[in-house]
Amino acid sequence: MSELLDKLCQNRRLDRAEWRKLLASRHILDQTGLFHRAAAERRRWYGEEIYVRGLIECGNICKNNCLYCGIRRDNHHVARYRLDRDTILDCCEKGYGWGFRTFVLQGGEDPGLTPDWVAETVEAIKARWPDCAVTLSLGEFDREEYQLWFDAGADRYLLRHETAHPAHYAKLHPPELTLAHRMDCLYTLKDIGYQVGAGFMVGSPGQSMDTLTEDFCFLQDFQPHMVGLGPFIPQKDTPFAKEPAGTLEDTLILLALVRLTLPKVLLPATTALGTIHPQGRELGILAGANVVMPNLSPPDTREKYTLYDNKLCTGDEAAEHLAGLRKRLAAIGCTVAVHRGDFPDKR
Ligand code: 5AD
Repeated sequence: MSELLDKLCQNRRLDRAEWRKLLASRHILDQTGLFHRAAAERRRWYGEEIYVRGLIECGNICKNNCLYCGIRRDNHHVARYRLDRDTILDCCEKGYGWGFRTFVLQGGEDPGLTPDWVAETVEAIKARWPDCAVTLSLGEFDREEYQLWFDAGADRYLLRHETAHPAHYAKLHPPELTLAHRMDCLYTLKDIGYQVGAGFMVGSPGQSMDTLTEDFCFLQDFQPHMVGLGPFIPQKDTPFAKEPAGTLEDTLILLALVRLTLPKVLLPATTALGTIHPQGRELGILAGANVVMPNLSPPDTREKYTLYDNKLCTGDEAAEHLAGLRKRLAAIGCTVAVHRGDFPDKR
C-alpha cells in the first residue's frame, strides 16, 4: 500500500481503481507513518501556525429536509431563530478583540434571509473590519446571489458536496436536492472567484469504498481551497437517529489523505471531530488539519444550532476561550495565527 501512498504524494492524484484499493486497505496502513507524512505536508505550507475562524451560526431556519441534519425542516423539536444584523456585528466585534480575522456566517437555507440582507451584512462587516475575511456558508443559491455577495466583499464560501456519488447523495437528501445542482453551485462559486470549500461527513449512512472513491476523485479534480470533513453524528430527531456515528480512526485517516492529495488545502479539525473524542481536534491537526473554527455565536443561541447530538459549544470550543485553545495547541507544538489565513496562492 505504501507504493500507492508514494504515488499519491508524487502525482497528487490516483485513478479510480487505485483510490478504491487504497481506501479499501486504509485500516491496514501504517497510521503513524501516514499521519506524520500528512503533518509534515501541513508544516511545509503553514509552519506551526493554525488558522482560526470565528463561526457565527446566523440562523437554524431551513427549507431543506436533509435526512442527517438536526435542523432539517421536519424537525419540530428545534426552537428556530435568526440573528439580526446588530447581533452578528456584536459577535464580530467580540471576535475581533479576541484575535479573529475571519468570520464565517453559517446558517440553514432560510427563505426569509434575503440576498440584499446578506450583501448588506457582508458590506457592514467589511467596512468595520477591512482586515478581516468573510466566509459564507448559507447553502445553494443562483449565480446572481453568489455574485452579489462576492461583490459585497465576501471572500470565501463553504458548501460541502456531502458525497460525490449520485445514488448516495439521493440516500442522504430529499429528491428536490441533487448532486448535479450542488456541483453546479461549487463550480459557479469557484468561477466567480471565491476561495471555495467542499467536503463530506465521514461514516454517513450508505458511505462505502465506492462513494469515498468518488469523493477523492472529485476533490483531486475540483481542487477546492478548503475541505470540511468530520464524522457523521446521529441526531435523535432525524431519520438517521439510530445510525452509528463515523469513527475517529476513519476521520483521521481521511483527513491525512486529503492533506496528501491537496497539500495546501485549508483543512479544519471540525467541531464534530472534537465532539466524538476529547482530543479530537488535536489528533486532527496531528493528522494534517490546519484550521479550527471556534463558536462565536451568542452563547444563548448555541444550543439551538443542533446539527447533531451533544454538539460541543462550550469549553475550548467557544471563541471566548481562545486562550484555552492556544494552550492546547501549544502542547502539540502549534500556534494560533492572527491574520486572515488565506489559501497560500491568494496571499
Ligand atoms: N453529523 C455531522 N455533521 C453534520 N452536518 C449536518 N448534519 C450532521 C450530522 N448529523 C454537517 C453537514 C453540513 C455541515 C454544516 O454540517 O456536512 O454541510
